[in-house]
Amino acid sequence: MDREKVILNACDYAKHIFDGESSGHDWFHTLRVYRLARSIACAEGADEFSVALAALLHDVDDRKLSPETCEHKDHARAFLKQQGIADDLAERIVRMIDEVSFRGTDSVRPSTLEGCCVQDADRLDALGAVGIARTFAFGGSRGRLIYDPEDAPAIGMDAQAYHSRESTSINHFYEKLLLLKDMMNTAEAKRIAEHRDAYLRAFLQEFLDEWEGKC
Ligand code: ADP
Ligand code: NI
Repeated sequence: MDREKVILNACDYAKHIFDGESSGHDWFHTLRVYRLARSIACAEGADEFSVALAALLHDVDDRKLSPETCEHKDHARAFLKQQGIADDLAERIVRMIDEVSFRGTDSVRPSTLEGCCVQDADRLDALGAVGIARTFAFGGSRGRLIYDPEDAPAIGMDAQAYHSRESTSINHFYEKLLLLKDMMNTAEAKRIAEHRDAYLRAFLQEFLDEWEGKC
């Protein structure tokens, strides 16, 4: 098996799946996660091939985007099989993908170093300027309000509460984004998260000050 060829095929596959996606989960999200995950893997001494494939396939069966294939990760499995990836490696990659997502208080720390690299990369892309842009793109795609001062953020949600919640985009900062910095697994991701988290907090302060006419 030519590993570089499999990675290129995974890029083409993800590009095809996310063509025209406008909720912040476009191909460029996958590409950023792939690049970040590889560089974290390199810094951490993790296996770069499985990290690369899990990163490229991490959203192809996402619960929000593909609820019918989410449970068994059908797209990722079919792709890996078609590429001739050995069953045990394919299972490891599927598990890494399954462990990526934020699930409120039911979020998991991935069971392998490789899974930690992919989860960290996906979460870093939810922070900083890019994370802010993605949050409002997602909210708009689901017809959600930017902000409603009457609607308080829900704190401490488990997976079920988190998945059924239809909150404002500003609430999403309190319900997920501001929690991510302290949930990073690797030293490299913790370092990058510091800056991106500070940027989020500064944005939120500015937003609320403008809303209240303070500046
Ligand atoms: P995860 O699998 O951990 O949810 P994703 O890669 O699917 O991660 O990206 C989730 C991103 O989608 C969030 O960080 C945010 O930008 C956007 N998003 C998800 N849920 C919401 C929401 N309820 N309101 C606003 N944005 C959301
Ligand atoms: Ni993602």
